[in-house]
Amino acid sequence: MKKEKINRSPLFYVGDKYKLIKEIRQYFPSTINRFFEPFVGGGSVFLNVDANKYFLNDIDRHVIELHKFLCSYINRENDFFELISSIIKKYNLSFSFKEDIVPNELKLKYKKTYYAHFNRNGFKELKNDYNNAKDKNLAKLYILLIYGFNRMLRFNSLDEYNLPVGNVDFNKNVYNALHNYFIINKHNEINWSNLDFKEYINSIKWKKDDFVYLDPPYLITFSEYNKYWNIHLEKELLSTLDKLNDKNVNFAISNVVNYKGKINDVFFNWAEKYNKYTITSNYINYHDNSIKNFTEVLVTNYK
Ligand SMILES: C[S@@+](CC[C@H](N)C(=O)[O-])C[C@H]1O[C@@H](n2cnc3c(N)ncnc32)[C@H](O)[C@@H]1O
Repeated sequence: MKKEKINRSPLFYVGDKYKLIKEIRQYFPSTINRFFEPFVGGGSVFLNVDANKYFLNDIDRHVIELHKFLCSYINRENDFFELISSIIKKYNLSFSFKEDIVPNELKLKYKKTYYAHFNRNGFKELKNDYNNAKDKNLAKLYILLIYGFNRMLRFNSLDEYNLPVGNVDFNKNVYNALHNYFIINKHNEINWSNLDFKEYINSIKWKKDDFVYLDPPYLITFSEYNKYWNIHLEKELLSTLDKLNDKNVNFAISNVVNYKGKINDVFFNWAEKYNKYTITSNYINYHDNSIKNFTEVLVTNYK
Protein backbone atom coordinates (compact mmCIF):
# COMPACT_ATOMS: atom_id res chain seq x y z
CA MET A 1 0.00 0.00 0.00
CA LYS A 2 1.29 3.47 -0.87
CA LYS A 3 1.03 6.56 1.34
CA GLU A 4 -1.51 9.11 0.02
CA LYS A 5 -0.03 12.42 1.15
CA ILE A 6 3.14 13.70 -0.54
CA ASN A 7 5.81 14.62 1.98
CA ARG A 8 8.39 17.29 1.24
CA SER A 9 11.96 16.78 2.44
CA PRO A 10 13.17 19.37 4.98
CA LEU A 11 16.41 19.58 2.96
CA PHE A 12 14.50 21.18 0.03
CA TYR A 13 16.96 19.48 -2.28
CA VAL A 14 17.71 20.89 -5.70
CA GLY A 15 16.41 18.49 -8.36
CA ASP A 16 14.36 16.55 -5.84
CA LYS A 17 11.54 14.24 -6.83
CA TYR A 18 8.87 16.01 -4.78
CA LYS A 19 6.78 16.96 -7.79
CA LEU A 20 7.20 13.65 -9.60
CA ILE A 21 7.03 11.09 -6.82
CA LYS A 22 3.31 10.43 -7.19
CA GLU A 23 3.83 9.61 -10.84
CA ILE A 24 6.98 7.55 -10.23
CA ARG A 25 5.84 5.40 -7.32
CA GLN A 26 2.85 4.01 -9.22
CA TYR A 27 5.42 1.87 -11.04
CA PHE A 28 7.01 0.59 -7.81
CA PRO A 29 6.34 -3.01 -6.67
CA SER A 30 3.29 -3.33 -4.39
CA THR A 31 5.31 -5.11 -1.70
CA ILE A 32 8.70 -3.78 -0.67
CA ASN A 33 10.55 -5.38 2.19
CA ARG A 34 13.88 -3.53 2.03
CA PHE A 35 13.95 -0.25 0.08
CA PHE A 36 17.36 0.89 -1.22
CA GLU A 37 18.29 4.33 -2.53
CA PRO A 38 21.96 4.62 -3.56
CA PHE A 39 21.43 8.32 -4.53
CA VAL A 40 19.06 9.48 -1.77
CA GLY A 41 19.76 13.25 -1.87
CA GLY A 42 17.12 15.12 0.14
CA GLY A 43 15.03 11.97 0.52
CA SER A 44 11.81 13.02 -1.26
CA VAL A 45 11.40 9.49 -2.52
CA PHE A 46 11.89 7.32 0.56
CA LEU A 47 9.67 9.72 2.56
CA ASN A 48 6.83 8.76 0.25
CA VAL A 49 7.31 5.01 -0.08
CA ASP A 50 6.15 2.28 2.29
CA ALA A 51 8.71 -0.40 3.10
CA ASN A 52 9.72 -2.44 6.12
CA LYS A 53 13.29 -1.13 6.17
CA TYR A 54 15.15 1.68 4.39
CA PHE A 55 18.79 1.61 3.24
CA LEU A 56 19.80 5.09 2.12
CA ASN A 57 23.08 6.26 0.65
CA ASP A 58 24.64 9.33 -0.93
CA ILE A 59 28.23 10.23 -1.77
CA ASP A 60 27.75 13.71 -0.30
CA ARG A 61 28.92 13.58 3.31
CA HIS A 62 27.12 16.77 4.32
CA VAL A 63 23.77 15.50 3.08
CA ILE A 64 24.08 12.24 5.01
CA GLU A 65 25.30 14.07 8.13
CA LEU A 66 22.27 16.36 7.99
CA HIS A 67 19.87 13.42 7.62
CA LYS A 68 21.51 11.62 10.54
CA PHE A 69 21.42 14.82 12.59
CA LEU A 70 17.68 15.29 11.93
CA CYS A 71 17.01 11.62 12.68
CA SER A 72 18.78 11.96 16.04
CA TYR A 73 15.91 14.29 17.06
CA ILE A 74 13.06 11.99 15.98
CA ASN A 75 11.84 11.52 19.55
CA ARG A 76 12.93 14.97 20.72
CA GLU A 77 11.13 17.26 18.32
CA ASN A 78 10.69 20.02 20.93
CA ASP A 79 14.40 20.00 21.72
CA PHE A 80 15.15 20.34 18.03
CA PHE A 81 12.88 23.35 17.57
CA GLU A 82 14.25 24.97 20.74
CA LEU A 83 17.80 24.54 19.50
CA ILE A 84 16.97 25.94 16.06
CA SER A 85 14.99 28.87 17.55
CA SER A 86 17.88 29.79 19.85
CA ILE A 87 20.32 29.97 16.92
CA ILE A 88 17.89 31.96 14.77
CA LYS A 89 17.45 34.43 17.65
CA LYS A 90 21.18 34.63 18.40
CA TYR A 91 21.92 35.73 14.83
CA ASN A 92 18.86 37.99 14.66
CA LEU A 93 17.47 36.26 11.58
CA SER A 94 13.85 36.68 10.50
CA PHE A 95 11.59 33.84 11.63
CA SER A 96 8.30 34.22 9.76
CA PHE A 97 7.03 30.91 11.15
CA LYS A 98 6.89 32.51 14.62
CA GLU A 99 6.60 36.26 14.06
CA ASP A 100 7.17 38.92 11.45
CA ILE A 101 10.09 41.06 12.61
CA VAL A 102 11.10 42.58 9.26
CA PRO A 103 10.47 46.38 9.47
CA ASN A 104 7.90 47.82 7.06
CA GLU A 105 10.40 50.34 5.62
CA LEU A 106 12.57 47.45 4.47
CA LYS A 107 9.57 45.65 2.93
CA LEU A 108 8.60 48.81 1.02
CA LYS A 109 12.15 49.50 -0.12
CA TYR A 110 12.97 45.93 -1.18
CA LYS A 111 9.59 44.53 -2.17
CA LYS A 112 10.75 41.11 -3.31
CA THR A 113 14.10 40.78 -1.57
CA TYR A 114 13.54 42.09 1.95
CA TYR A 115 14.41 38.78 3.63
CA ALA A 116 17.82 38.78 1.95
CA HIS A 117 18.42 42.38 3.09
CA PHE A 118 17.20 41.80 6.61
CA ASN A 119 19.18 38.57 7.12
CA ARG A 120 22.40 39.47 5.31
CA ASN A 121 24.53 40.42 8.34
CA GLY A 122 23.28 37.72 10.68
CA PHE A 123 23.72 35.11 7.96
CA LYS A 124 27.30 36.26 7.34
CA GLU A 125 28.11 36.02 11.03
CA LEU A 126 26.52 32.57 11.27
CA LYS A 127 28.46 31.41 8.21
CA ASN A 128 31.75 32.65 9.68
CA ASP A 129 31.07 30.99 13.03
CA TYR A 130 30.14 27.71 11.32
CA ASN A 131 33.20 27.74 9.07
CA ASN A 132 35.65 28.76 11.81
CA ALA A 133 34.53 26.17 14.36
CA LYS A 134 36.71 23.08 14.71
CA ASP A 135 33.74 20.79 15.34
CA LYS A 136 31.14 21.56 12.72
CA ASN A 137 27.76 22.38 14.21
CA LEU A 138 25.04 20.64 12.16
CA ALA A 139 22.21 22.75 13.59
CA LYS A 140 24.03 25.80 12.24
CA LEU A 141 24.57 24.09 8.89
CA TYR A 142 20.85 23.29 8.68
CA ILE A 143 20.00 26.96 9.30
CA LEU A 144 22.54 28.04 6.67
CA LEU A 145 20.77 25.70 4.26
CA ILE A 146 17.33 27.12 5.10
CA TYR A 147 18.38 30.79 4.86
CA GLY A 148 20.99 30.36 2.13
CA PHE A 149 20.89 30.99 -1.60
CA ASN A 150 18.39 28.67 -3.32
CA ARG A 151 18.49 26.45 -0.23
CA MET A 152 21.53 24.71 -1.64
CA LEU A 153 24.61 23.18 -0.03
CA ARG A 154 27.93 24.21 -1.52
CA PHE A 155 31.42 24.04 -0.03
CA ASN A 156 34.83 25.21 -1.21
CA SER A 157 37.97 23.08 -1.31
CA LEU A 158 38.60 23.92 2.38
CA ASP A 159 35.20 22.42 3.17
CA GLU A 160 33.80 25.86 4.00
CA TYR A 161 30.13 26.54 3.29
CA ASN A 162 30.30 29.26 0.64
CA LEU A 163 26.86 30.41 -0.50
CA PRO A 164 25.43 33.88 0.07
CA VAL A 165 22.20 34.65 1.91
CA GLY A 166 18.97 33.71 0.11
CA ASN A 167 15.63 35.45 0.01
CA VAL A 168 13.86 32.93 2.24
CA ASP A 169 13.57 32.20 5.94
CA PHE A 170 12.24 29.64 8.40
CA ASN A 171 8.56 29.66 7.45
CA LYS A 172 5.58 27.36 7.83
CA ASN A 173 6.73 25.12 4.96
CA VAL A 174 10.03 24.45 6.71
CA TYR A 175 8.26 23.66 9.97
CA ASN A 176 5.79 21.31 8.25
CA ALA A 177 8.52 19.48 6.34
CA LEU A 178 10.54 18.97 9.54
CA HIS A 179 7.52 17.92 11.58
CA ASN A 180 6.49 15.35 8.92
CA TYR A 181 10.07 14.08 8.64
CA PHE A 182 10.14 13.43 12.40
CA ILE A 183 6.71 11.74 12.40
CA ILE A 184 7.36 9.52 9.38
CA ASN A 185 10.78 8.41 10.51
CA LYS A 186 9.63 7.60 14.05
CA HIS A 187 8.37 4.30 12.65
CA ASN A 188 11.01 3.79 9.99
CA GLU A 189 14.09 1.67 10.42
CA ILE A 190 16.77 3.52 8.46
CA ASN A 191 20.38 2.62 7.69
CA TRP A 192 22.42 5.53 6.35
CA SER A 193 25.61 5.18 4.29
CA ASN A 194 28.01 7.59 2.69
CA LEU A 195 29.66 5.65 -0.14
CA ASP A 196 30.11 5.75 -3.86
CA PHE A 197 27.11 3.94 -5.44
CA LYS A 198 29.16 1.04 -6.79
CA GLU A 199 30.82 0.19 -3.51
CA TYR A 200 27.44 0.58 -1.84
CA ILE A 201 25.49 -1.67 -4.21
CA ASN A 202 28.23 -4.30 -4.19
CA SER A 203 28.26 -4.42 -0.39
CA ILE A 204 24.67 -5.65 -0.13
CA LYS A 205 23.50 -9.23 0.26
CA TRP A 206 20.27 -9.21 -1.70
CA LYS A 207 17.08 -10.87 -0.49
CA LYS A 208 13.57 -11.50 -1.76
CA ASP A 209 11.37 -8.34 -2.00
CA ASP A 210 14.34 -6.02 -1.98
CA PHE A 211 13.78 -3.04 -4.23
CA VAL A 212 16.29 -0.46 -5.46
CA TYR A 213 15.27 3.01 -6.67
CA LEU A 214 18.02 5.07 -8.32
CA ASP A 215 18.03 8.78 -9.05
CA PRO A 216 21.61 9.51 -10.18
CA PRO A 217 22.85 12.88 -11.47
CA TYR A 218 21.74 13.30 -15.08
CA LEU A 219 24.57 13.28 -17.59
CA ILE A 220 23.02 15.90 -19.88
CA THR A 221 21.56 18.38 -17.37
CA PHE A 222 23.26 20.83 -14.99
CA SER A 223 23.33 20.69 -11.21
CA GLU A 224 25.77 21.22 -8.36
CA TYR A 225 26.07 17.45 -7.78
CA ASN A 226 26.83 16.78 -11.47
CA LYS A 227 30.44 17.54 -10.60
CA TYR A 228 30.47 14.00 -9.21
CA TRP A 229 29.25 12.55 -12.51
CA ASN A 230 30.62 11.63 -15.95
CA ILE A 231 30.12 9.17 -18.82
CA HIS A 232 32.49 6.66 -17.22
CA LEU A 233 30.38 6.54 -14.01
CA GLU A 234 27.19 6.40 -16.04
CA LYS A 235 28.42 3.29 -17.86
CA GLU A 236 29.58 1.77 -14.60
CA LEU A 237 26.16 2.36 -13.07
CA LEU A 238 24.35 0.76 -15.99
CA SER A 239 26.54 -2.34 -15.91
CA THR A 240 26.05 -2.56 -12.13
CA LEU A 241 22.30 -2.56 -12.80
CA ASP A 242 22.65 -5.34 -15.38
CA LYS A 243 24.34 -7.39 -12.68
CA LEU A 244 21.47 -6.67 -10.28
CA ASN A 245 19.08 -7.83 -12.98
CA ASP A 246 21.06 -11.09 -13.29
CA LYS A 247 20.55 -11.56 -9.55
CA ASN A 248 16.77 -11.02 -9.93
CA VAL A 249 16.79 -7.85 -7.84
CA ASN A 250 14.05 -5.41 -8.91
CA PHE A 251 15.16 -1.87 -9.68
CA ALA A 252 13.74 1.36 -11.08
CA ILE A 253 15.95 4.18 -12.31
CA SER A 254 15.06 7.79 -13.19
CA ASN A 255 16.83 9.73 -15.88
CA VAL A 256 16.49 12.45 -18.46
CA VAL A 257 17.04 11.15 -21.97
CA ASN A 258 16.85 14.43 -23.86
CA TYR A 259 17.42 17.95 -22.67
CA LYS A 260 17.58 21.10 -24.77
CA GLY A 261 18.47 19.17 -27.90
CA LYS A 262 21.02 16.88 -26.20
CA ILE A 263 20.37 13.14 -26.07
CA ASN A 264 21.75 10.65 -23.58
CA ASP A 265 22.39 7.86 -26.11
CA VAL A 266 24.18 5.60 -23.65
CA PHE A 267 21.22 5.49 -21.28
CA PHE A 268 18.65 5.46 -24.07
CA ASN A 269 20.22 2.43 -25.77
CA TRP A 270 20.82 0.58 -22.50
CA ALA A 271 17.13 1.07 -21.53
CA GLU A 272 15.96 -0.75 -24.67
CA LYS A 273 16.20 -4.13 -22.94
CA TYR A 274 14.03 -3.00 -19.98
CA ASN A 275 10.68 -1.19 -19.56
CA LYS A 276 10.66 2.55 -20.14
CA TYR A 277 7.92 4.91 -18.90
CA THR A 278 7.73 8.63 -19.63
CA ILE A 279 7.20 10.67 -16.48
CA THR A 280 5.36 13.99 -16.67
CA SER A 281 4.71 16.11 -13.64
CA ASN A 282 1.09 16.97 -12.87
CA TYR A 283 2.40 20.24 -11.54
CA ILE A 284 3.86 21.41 -14.85
CA ASN A 285 1.68 23.77 -16.79
CA TYR A 286 1.04 22.11 -20.13
CA HIS A 287 1.28 25.42 -21.95
CA ASP A 288 4.73 25.95 -20.50
CA ASN A 289 7.41 25.57 -23.19
CA SER A 290 9.87 24.01 -20.74
CA ILE A 291 7.89 20.77 -20.93
CA LYS A 292 9.09 20.27 -24.52
CA ASN A 293 12.71 20.80 -23.49
CA PHE A 294 13.28 17.54 -21.71
CA THR A 295 11.95 14.02 -21.31
CA GLU A 296 12.18 12.38 -17.93
CA VAL A 297 11.86 8.61 -17.86
CA LEU A 298 11.66 5.76 -15.38
CA VAL A 299 13.20 2.45 -16.41
CA THR A 300 12.30 -0.75 -14.56
CA ASN A 301 13.54 -4.32 -14.91
CA TYR A 302 10.10 -5.72 -13.93
CA LYS A 303 6.55 -5.29 -15.24
C1 LIG B 1 19.32 13.72 -8.59
S1 LIG B 1 20.05 13.79 -6.98
C2 LIG B 1 18.96 12.80 -6.01
C3 LIG B 1 17.75 13.58 -5.59
C4 LIG B 1 16.78 12.79 -4.73
N1 LIG B 1 16.04 11.80 -5.50
C5 LIG B 1 15.79 13.71 -4.04
O1 LIG B 1 14.58 13.58 -4.27
O2 LIG B 1 16.23 14.57 -3.27
C6 LIG B 1 21.49 12.79 -7.19
C7 LIG B 1 22.28 12.50 -5.93
O3 LIG B 1 23.35 11.62 -6.27
C8 LIG B 1 24.45 11.89 -5.41
N2 LIG B 1 25.64 11.29 -6.06
C9 LIG B 1 26.39 11.79 -7.07
N3 LIG B 1 27.37 10.93 -7.41
C10 LIG B 1 27.25 9.84 -6.60
C11 LIG B 1 27.97 8.62 -6.48
N4 LIG B 1 29.01 8.35 -7.25
N5 LIG B 1 27.55 7.71 -5.56
C12 LIG B 1 26.49 7.99 -4.75
N6 LIG B 1 25.79 9.16 -4.80
C13 LIG B 1 26.15 10.07 -5.73
C14 LIG B 1 24.46 13.40 -5.30
O4 LIG B 1 25.14 13.83 -4.14
C15 LIG B 1 22.94 13.71 -5.28
O5 LIG B 1 22.49 13.83 -3.95
